[in-house]
Amino acid sequence: MNKSNNILIIGGGIIGLSIAIELKLLGAKVTVINRDFQPIATNAAAGMLAPQAEAIPPGKMLDLCLKSRTLYPEWVQKIESISGLETGYWSCGILTPVYTLKDRQNYALPNLNYQWLNQVAIHQYQSGLSPEVIGGWFYSQDAQVDSPYLYKSIIAAAKELKIDIIQGSVKEIICKKGKIQTLKTSIGELEAEHYVLATGAWSQELLPIPVFPTKGQMLSLKIPSDVSTENLPLQQVLFGNQTYIVPRKDGRIIIGATCENIGFVDGNTAAGVQQLLGNAIRLYPGLRDYEILEFWWGFRPNTPDEMPILGESNYDNLTLATGHYRNGILLAPVTGMLIADLIWNNQSDPLLTAFNYSRFMEVGSKV
Ligand code: GLY
Repeated sequence: MNKSNNILIIGGGIIGLSIAIELKLLGAKVTVINRDFQPIATNAAAGMLAPQAEAIPPGKMLDLCLKSRTLYPEWVQKIESISGLETGYWSCGILTPVYTLKDRQNYALPNLNYQWLNQVAIHQYQSGLSPEVIGGWFYSQDAQVDSPYLYKSIIAAAKELKIDIIQGSVKEIICKKGKIQTLKTSIGELEAEHYVLATGAWSQELLPIPVFPTKGQMLSLKIPSDVSTENLPLQQVLFGNQTYIVPRKDGRIIIGATCENIGFVDGNTAAGVQQLLGNAIRLYPGLRDYEILEFWWGFRPNTPDEMPILGESNYDNLTLATGHYRNGILLAPVTGMLIADLIWNNQSDPLLTAFNYSRFMEVGSKV
């Protein structure tokens, strides 16, 4: 693109900001418009970096997730050094305890660490698990980041880099001759040379792309006050059946998450919280005595094939970066880098092909 021109990013979640930062570092003039998305997907996420524990099958999606997991340590270091704020990245590994042998699938992937722990080994490795647990996989390369901390850090980094972040909501995209001409927003009309749509679960408000919300309810507990954070009872994530338990270094324990396709329905429900607590206490019974800190919920941007929509759109000057579903936090570094490279250097990484929106537009496609 003409490198003196402006780029306007619609959406100030983790994906929009990661693209903004990469573009700015390449020399672009970047503006982000963000309405007060409450609760945005970023704040709702537990921050697991878990391509292996999530059992993503071999293919382009797994390739993208693994690439992003590899980028993570350097990427958070960059964000932290620009912002001066920690992100809570912790290469803690993820354990996936099971109650029956058919419970959990593992893909035997070359060059990745994974290890089956049998009943004796798993209870020795992690004390306090349910006696029902008969074994589990340990994925030492899966990790976590504290998503609200990451969000604070990335916002601060964007501000430090003088990225213009404006509060407002886009009401309409005005197009002419296959290009976006202007955006009608709550703060007036905005124009740029190039636009990026990174509006997550809300993307269909602006364009007819198949992104829909999948609600996730979550809650947090804290370790008992007589237990020191130097000596945390959980030193890795436990990823169980429909529940995960994510220990933070400060003694909080995050428990997630429901998966509800009910639209944008706010609030925590008795059934949602019961499901989370029931599953979590079954897996790690000691949690029953931990104090509850908070409940919250968020809306994951889901797509019919559960893969993100990345790259070119129907409009010459609009790039799409949405639909990251369960993996928005994990995919932030790779999305930022590949999309910035596409826009600024006209370089389309071969990985992007599988994520083009056109997969949903083909005549005869099931969507
Ligand atoms: N990344 C886990 C979830 O979305 O619940």
